[in-house]
Amino acid sequence: MSEVKSAPELEEILTKVKIPGEIQLALAEIEAGLKKQESDQTKANNEPRLTLYDFDSEFGRRIDLEAKKLADSGIDPNQIASALVKKFDLRNYGIGILLGEGQTPMTESPTLRRLIISEVLQNGESNYAKNSPEVMERIKNNILRWLQIPEEYQADFIFATASDGGTGSGQTCVQTLLQANPKISKIALEKKGWPGHKAMAASQRVDLNEKEIGFVAKSEVLPAYQIGPHNQTGIVHPTGLWQQRAKTAAKNKQMVFLDHAYPGFAHAYQLLKDKPYTQIMEADYKRFIAPFLEKGVTTAISVGPTKAFRTFKNRPGGLSLIYCPDQNIKKILAGVIRARGSAFENTSTRALLHGLDRYMSYFTADHEISLRRVAGAEDQWRKYSKDTPLAKLFVAGEFAGIFRNFTSKEGAARTLYGHRLGPVASNGNIRINTTGLPGNKEIAKADVTAFASVMADD
Ligand SMILES: Cc1ncc(COP(=O)(O)O)c(C=O)c1O
Repeated sequence: MSEVKSAPELEEILTKVKIPGEIQLALAEIEAGLKKQESDQTKANNEPRLTLYDFDSEFGRRIDLEAKKLADSGIDPNQIASALVKKFDLRNYGIGILLGEGQTPMTESPTLRRLIISEVLQNGESNYAKNSPEVMERIKNNILRWLQIPEEYQADFIFATASDGGTGSGQTCVQTLLQANPKISKIALEKKGWPGHKAMAASQRVDLNEKEIGFVAKSEVLPAYQIGPHNQTGIVHPTGLWQQRAKTAAKNKQMVFLDHAYPGFAHAYQLLKDKPYTQIMEADYKRFIAPFLEKGVTTAISVGPTKAFRTFKNRPGGLSLIYCPDQNIKKILAGVIRARGSAFENTSTRALLHGLDRYMSYFTADHEISLRRVAGAEDQWRKYSKDTPLAKLFVAGEFAGIFRNFTSKEGAARTLYGHRLGPVASNGNIRINTTGLPGNKEIAKADVTAFASVMADD
């Protein structure tokens, strides 16, 4: 894994906010502690503590029984995976966050942690004043530049941020578009997708139209298109499909919701071919976003900071960017944000926003580390799954991101548990978090072989 790179030093921030001397001293200690934590974690990730155990069918059977009991108690497959990993010390392929080579969660964005400390110290000074239209405009434009969205579109974007990560910014987008077009009574989405979209439809009391993966929404529905790799399969749709989706939306005067929970992930593999980071982001823009903007489609993009910058623990709000030449939507968005609870009332979101305003390059450095981990792990899977049925899920450019999902053979979960592997298993499907792959080559190869052995033939 790459070393944790540059992040603004607390001192640097503090020189700008005139913190008294004794607090400066306390902060220097916090800063030293943060640095130690980061270097300890990098070390832990580079020195995997994992052991390769022999296959144990009895152990597998015991865990499988426990899994069934948990399922009967009504908890969902993700929670079951998490409980089993903890209780039986399985290797963690089930969790939904980025893991390092030692199977421990990757370091939380060091940039955000430092900015949060600085925010907490300033809370007494009422920072609401900092939330001015000028500041929001500057942040919006920084984010658009990060996403490589050309300047010509800037004026027609509106920007807001609500609480609760990419889930919150997604809700904001969906609620705004539904209110802007009361005729819409259905959300259309791909099957095997992220369950949160279904929950959003339910909470808005609109029907669901669950479609094939790669569908083009034609009728009067609000399409929830996941851009980047599709969670949970990892499929990256070709440029042609995005152009077709945009063309159809423009023809039918349809609004679209683009969920961008994994910015850059679809093209991260090109980093390993020495493509610069900005070109990865540009490739994402051209494939997923440009087709809609070029056709003038009203497009709400929810950008999640959770996976990109690694903000799992502190969980700042996500970023809702709505491209709309129609000014009415602006008022609706303001109302939705008022109801949801917004950015500047929440310390970690405020820290994120101030960082995006003043320290964007530090966040892009954090982001590049995430992308390199995903791309590096993917490359290992590609190598070890060669000549197995699993190989087709690791074709660069066609599949990407932290998840893969496949139909499994009868008894697959039991076999995997016997190998001490903890994926998410449900309804004859296995979902793997690819970043669970350990750095130890012998263990990694054995794990990939075990997963390949339980994949159903087509
Ligand atoms: C497609 C998709 N959208 C949104 C989210 C929610 O992201 P967050 O954890 O930032 O709320 C996820 C999380 O897994 C996701 O996969």
